[in-house]
Amino acid sequence: MATNSSKTSTPYLNTAQVERAYSRYAHLYDVTFGKLFNEPRRIGVECLDVQSGERILEVGVGTGISLSHYRNDCSITAIDVSDEMLEHSQLQIKRHGLNHVTIANMDAANMQFSDNSFDAVMAAYVITAVPDHKTVIQEMVRVCRPGGRIVFINHFSNGNQLIGSMEKLVSPLCRHLGFRTDLGLQAVLDGTTLQVIRKRSVTPLGLGNLVECINLKTA
Ligand SMILES: C[S@@+](CC[C@H](N)C(=O)[O-])C[C@H]1O[C@@H](n2cnc3c(N)ncnc32)[C@H](O)[C@@H]1O
Repeated sequence: MATNSSKTSTPYLNTAQVERAYSRYAHLYDVTFGKLFNEPRRIGVECLDVQSGERILEVGVGTGISLSHYRNDCSITAIDVSDEMLEHSQLQIKRHGLNHVTIANMDAANMQFSDNSFDAVMAAYVITAVPDHKTVIQEMVRVCRPGGRIVFINHFSNGNQLIGSMEKLVSPLCRHLGFRTDLGLQAVLDGTTLQVIRKRSVTPLGLGNLVECINLKTA
């Protein structure tokens, strides 16, 4: 069942603020952040190892920059909270004829999908852009079937004390841009049924990690 997202909100972000931040720079996204981190998205989709006929969920799809990387004999559902970002996704769908993709405005912390609806779930640069990562992860695990795959692409705080204090310092400032920099992978995965099967850096300076997980929950 969908869970209440308010309990573990960070003081840095709230959904309205995040939605406003991304709506504001949706038109610039593809030529800035979008362009910069496109190769990791391609690798992330490859790692998802999508099989013919599978049901895929992409959380926080943004401008849909990753959508053309998927094979077209699967079914993709892509959600985001920003209508402006989703308008760009819609253009991607049209431009590339992606008839297997459906998009919806939906809060990842309160998804309107039944349990076990998807074989695989992708979250690219999203988990540090949500106010309540714990609830979002719970939701991703809930809608992913037992044994399904979940892939994250993200910057995660690496535990180094010096870098960690800098990340903590800049994180409150980054909230105006709609993300935080001080979240560690362990904090994301603690208490979940996710097992990491592979983790590697996919951008210089450890700015982007690709984390492949398997959902060990039982039905
Ligand atoms: C940094 S962008 C990443 C977009 C895209 N995944 C990419 O690879 O470029 C983060 C996205 O997450 C969306 N987002 C933030 N909070 C969300 C939430 N609670 N539910 C769904 N989407 C959310 C934002 O609107 C934004 O489009």
